[in-house]
Amino acid sequence: MSKLFSSITIKDLTLKNRFVMAPMCMYSTKGDGHLTPFHFLHYNTRAVGGVGLIIVEATAVEPRGRITHNDLGIWDDAFIDGFKQLTSEVKSNGAKIGIQLAHAGRKADLPGEEIIAASPIRFNDHYQVPKEMTKEDIHTVIKCFKDAALRAKLADFDIIEIHAAHGYLINQFLSPLTNKRTDEYGGSIENRARILVEIVKAVREVWSKEKPLMVRVSAMDFKEGGNTVNDIIEIIKLIKDDVDIIDCSTGGVVSDAKINAYPGYQVKYAEEIKKATGLLTVAGGLVTTPEMASEIIDNERSDMLFLGRVLLREPYFVLNAAKKLNVDYSWPFQYVRGK
Ligand SMILES: Cc1cc2nc3c(=O)[nH]c(=O)nc-3n(C[C@H](O)[C@H](O)[C@H](O)COP(=O)(O)O)c2cc1C
Repeated sequence: MSKLFSSITIKDLTLKNRFVMAPMCMYSTKGDGHLTPFHFLHYNTRAVGGVGLIIVEATAVEPRGRITHNDLGIWDDAFIDGFKQLTSEVKSNGAKIGIQLAHAGRKADLPGEEIIAASPIRFNDHYQVPKEMTKEDIHTVIKCFKDAALRAKLADFDIIEIHAAHGYLINQFLSPLTNKRTDEYGGSIENRARILVEIVKAVREVWSKEKPLMVRVSAMDFKEGGNTVNDIIEIIKLIKDDVDIIDCSTGGVVSDAKINAYPGYQVKYAEEIKKATGLLTVAGGLVTTPEMASEIIDNERSDMLFLGRVLLREPYFVLNAAKKLNVDYSWPFQYVRGK
């Protein structure tokens, strides 16, 4: 049987298979950051479809950290009840569920509102010039991540993913292309990683050691002078003791990056990160067939696999993959006659 369909235990969490639904913004709130019926339908459908772990889309830890006005939020205790309902439903449909805690930084598309970043450089002409963060701003954002993590715990999420990828706020500090600071938060790798290290530590204060913590990274900036996978490995080593899993993506830091995206193009970075850090990994990106998925996991190139757009097209991808790979996989009892 393909290892894709084998369980994996990470701290207090056991996943029934290696399929992870990638976080994907649905821009479907009513502008208040709250879940809507669409979110319940969307995530529960993938749970019924057999995904082992669902990662809820980028969820803003403070209002100015939203990518758009229609992003999900977790900046207030008023969000806990809705998420608690969602985690309870998704779990009853057979999947585990995590949340991606996020801050957009300079990639916040919030016209008329002040946006913040490591340095006052805008992403492109469409975006505002962000305000360079003061130390006080940095401490505020770290506290926002910590408070959000506590809310995630109270809402019964199984895992937290910290969004340090795709050129959003944390990534803006990590990359020398977007971080031109001269204080202790800029310059050397250690300085650029400082905000991530402090966020991870703050999150761990409320998210107990027994629970898995995951960080999503952009392993490559794909631009000269930017981070490469070797820089990212050095950064991961600084958080390694507090983190269990690295979710490996790439890009998004600058608008003129040169990306050659072909099927599975990011998987090799997960492989390198896994080897160099010993942490568990989630790989993915343009993985669209059961055969590709099984090649990655069965050859131990990654421990888990994320699926994004293919799950938008095919919510039952996992169940169909089992059939295609001749795995006798248990279906939701309501759907057994469709097997
Ligand atoms: C509609 C959409 C929304 C996305 N939103 C997020 C997000 O909230 N957080 C994140 O880290 N990545 C986000 N991504 C990137 C995906 O998680 C994933 O890395 C990407 O789609 C590549 O995987 P795929 O080829 O399987 O789709 C988004 C992608 C799509 C298509």
